[in-house]
Amino acid sequence: MKKEEITGVEFGQGLRTSKAQRRRPARAKAVVKPPMMKAAAIDRFGPPSVLTLHSLPMPEPGPGEVLIELHAAGVGVWDADIRGGWWPQGRPKFPIVLGSDGAGKVAATGPRVRGFRVGERVWAAEFINPKGGFYAEYIAVKAEHTGRVPKRLDLLHAGAATVTALTALQGIDRLRVRRRETVLVFGASGAVGTLAVQFAKWLGARVLGTASGHAAQRLVRQLGAQGVIDARSPRSLEQIRELAPDGLDAVLALAGGDALERCLDLVRPGGRVAYPHGVEPEPKRRKSVQLLAYDAESGRREFARLERAVEQARLRVPIAAAYPLARAAKAHERLERGRVLGRIVLRISQPSQSKTQRR
Ligand SMILES: NC(=O)c1ccc[n+]([C@@H]2O[C@H](COP(=O)([O-])OP(=O)(O)OC[C@H]3O[C@@H](n4cnc5c(N)ncnc54)[C@H](OP(=O)(O)O)[C@@H]3O)[C@@H](O)[C@H]2O)c1
Repeated sequence: MKKEEITGVEFGQGLRTSKAQRRRPARAKAVVKPPMMKAAAIDRFGPPSVLTLHSLPMPEPGPGEVLIELHAAGVGVWDADIRGGWWPQGRPKFPIVLGSDGAGKVAATGPRVRGFRVGERVWAAEFINPKGGFYAEYIAVKAEHTGRVPKRLDLLHAGAATVTALTALQGIDRLRVRRRETVLVFGASGAVGTLAVQFAKWLGARVLGTASGHAAQRLVRQLGAQGVIDARSPRSLEQIRELAPDGLDAVLALAGGDALERCLDLVRPGGRVAYPHGVEPEPKRRKSVQLLAYDAESGRREFARLERAVEQARLRVPIAAAYPLARAAKAHERLERGRVLGRIVLRISQPSQSKTQRR
């Protein structure tokens, strides 16, 4: 596949990190920590413009925590919900630093942390991290929610894919996808969907995806889907019936609503449907179809499984757009315009680390 075949989407792989980058990280040295850091935070809920650059104290890693110098942070649709006023945990304490995932290098470790060294490339995911989110130069996060970045990914693409890759892989795993089964990824051109298509294909499934618009459909096909359907089109059911005459074995639902419900009528008896919490409206239960709701988990075991899957599936991470941290509000404006192919990412530090993507 030639890079120029893909418009408006930057792919993160076939690349490997250079020998120099893979060289053993230096032994832990005393790290000179600046007392303050830059972070994109909100002082009140509201439109994208409430997200501004703040100077905030750097978090200190406590027991069991690692301090990560972030290179990139993913921008999630749920971040926009929080910015707009959806707050799931008691009274919000402003300023709130948004962001639930990202990648960077270990800057320091707190007491009782084993298995991470200063300088090591890591990615982490924590929904509403108590010491502030990932739209920041540094984050202190639990080591158990941190994993090693697969060699295949550079830090920009790892930061764009941390929680979405966990969600995609765990959805496909929960569906217990077997070789030659027909799996529909509903919402295949989005941040989770673009990765789920590749994991399902890696496991040997025949993958169908829904996507609307020429560019989105082409992308989903390039990622390995054998059939791409516009779920909003009146012909979609007929197309799925043609592609899966014996019915769908499994569906990963990444958006809800009437178009999804129509597709779910085509799941065969004994088939499976999985969706991550946040998909609304939630898919309706059906007789003789297993319905599984889940949240992405970011434990050591999940990161180890993801590391292997990323390498073996030769995962490519489509980036729809990258913005500097100071322009986080623009990233949210872009998110709100919709039709995002893959994920939006914030580029935080050390631009020299973000190599030109090769495939
Ligand atoms: N609980 C968890 O752990 C967890 C973790 C990650 C994500 N999530 C949830 O998973 C969902 C997907 O996340 P994401 O980051 O992949 O979102 P996303 O990037 O916005 O992708 C959503 C996809 O669904 C499609 N879509 C939206 N509405 C549709 C409709 N009515 N009919 C057909 N297709 C539709 C979109 O295509 P168009 O562009 O064509 O509309 C897009 O491809 C979200 O609800 C998110 O909150 C939950």
